[in-house]
Amino acid sequence: MGNCLLEMKGIKKYFPGIKALDGVDYTIRAGEVHALIGENGAGKSTLVKVLTGIYHPEEGKIIIQGVEVDFKNPLDSQKASIAAIHQEATMFPDLSVTENIYMGHHLKKPFPRTIDWKEMKHKTKVLLEKLELDINPDTKVKNLSVAQRHMVEIVKALSLDARIVIMDEPTSALSLKEVEDLYRIIRQLKSEGKAIVFISHKFEDIFEIADYFTVLRDGKYIGQGRVADTDVDAIIQMMVGRSLNKMFPKRAVEHGNTVLEVKRISRVGIFKDISFKLHKGEILGLFGLVGAGRSDVIQAIFGIDLKTEGEVFINGKIAEIKNPAEAMNYGIAYIPEDRQLQGTIAKMNIRENLTLPIIDKISRYSFLDSAEELKITQKFGRRMDIKASGWEQPVNDLSGGNQQKVVLAKWLATRPEILIMDEPTKGIDVATKARVHEFISVLAKQGMAILLISSEIPEILCMSDKIVVMYEGTVTGRFNRDEADSEKLLKAATGDQRQL
Ligand SMILES: Nc1ncnc2c1ncn2[C@@H]1O[C@H](COP(=O)(O)OP(=O)(O)OP(=O)(O)O)[C@@H](O)[C@H]1O
Ligand SMILES: [Mg+2]
Repeated sequence: MGNCLLEMKGIKKYFPGIKALDGVDYTIRAGEVHALIGENGAGKSTLVKVLTGIYHPEEGKIIIQGVEVDFKNPLDSQKASIAAIHQEATMFPDLSVTENIYMGHHLKKPFPRTIDWKEMKHKTKVLLEKLELDINPDTKVKNLSVAQRHMVEIVKALSLDARIVIMDEPTSALSLKEVEDLYRIIRQLKSEGKAIVFISHKFEDIFEIADYFTVLRDGKYIGQGRVADTDVDAIIQMMVGRSLNKMFPKRAVEHGNTVLEVKRISRVGIFKDISFKLHKGEILGLFGLVGAGRSDVIQAIFGIDLKTEGEVFINGKIAEIKNPAEAMNYGIAYIPEDRQLQGTIAKMNIRENLTLPIIDKISRYSFLDSAEELKITQKFGRRMDIKASGWEQPVNDLSGGNQQKVVLAKWLATRPEILIMDEPTKGIDVATKARVHEFISVLAKQGMAILLISSEIPEILCMSDKIVVMYEGTVTGRFNRDEADSEKLLKAATGDQRQL
């Protein structure tokens, strides 16, 4: 392929005990979106890190416009016009949008050579406007939503004027409206002749935006092709080496008593008049677009923010929950959306992370029962299909999706009475997703009451017994499992149809 912008050939990258990349080929031309596909731990992010100079490959060639390059560090890659939006956030929460965007490549005045804040702020503004993003350059990054932070990462890549833009799961933190924005931005980049390396576990993304795809499995190159010439089943076959039942049909469960009742709760300016009931053994889906107020409602129930009106009842008794510790005493566990901040302790290993919340339960007279600890780790680790070289592997070294599985396993192991999950399968590949869904369903069958927040319509439809839809802080739809479909959910979620 003579007109290739980038060619990677026979790339190998090993970690102790793992061949993360074992002879991978990947090519991309200008003006092309090329998806990189594979299960959790297949090697996608590792390939990105080789391309951005974070890792040096054991073997293989990187050729840019016909010239072989050897990146010794990330700066070499940046100089070759490559920019990446990594899977894990790389921004500084206490710095402003402008400061983050120009971190590491400050603009300077011609004379004296001092930092030109005015120019950087101006350029940031221009880029934000070009992408039609309503974000103030002076805002501190910690005050942005998860979606906005991703958009700022994209702006940062553009500020470097990169020719090759890598997006490692850019849509996993976004939902519908933001995803549309991202597609629009990607199309704009394409028309400017940029090449986009695109990683996603969502087939909708791949079929909507990618022109070509390359599949990896266990660090090996499996194949590539044109998206227009393939279909989901063929890609799954390449990913997992077999065909697969993509959806796990939820088991029917008898519902017991009301364990959680939320009665007309409000928080001024954020959400209003929210009511629902959750029964033993039930999965209640809470659907809505980003910003609909779902997470705010949950945080009020869990005592992170306080409600200003209304009541919460647990097992029929009024519960005044003022902080998360009280919520946990009531038997509530909450798996938050922003897991990079609250999810795992990256330096600890899988076993330590997994058993952290239950450490008291598996200790006798302040001695840890190691056998019991290992048993629980194995049980939940296997149920979640965590892929690692061993339970002692630091969470830091796991692939993004596998870190996610550790967080899920950790909270499921606490066996709460009420489990609240915010976007639980974000970043988890198709094959494992079905297994995670199955396990959640088993827990419900065993009597756990589950509140599931998800922006993925198939997940909501497949898992929920009942669905509550929110829009702009109010409930705009309620459906039973058998009456819900994607059209109705979307209508309610966009405030199209008030039907209470
Ligand atoms: N720094 C590291 N040390 C040890 N092993 C690592 C390190 N980084 C990655 N690995 C291992 O390399 C393999 C590939 O990981 P990688 O992050 O590339 O997967 P991925 O395809 O991006 O998966 P996901 O979809 O979950 O993000 C995994 O088995 C992972 O545990
Ligand atoms: Mg990854």
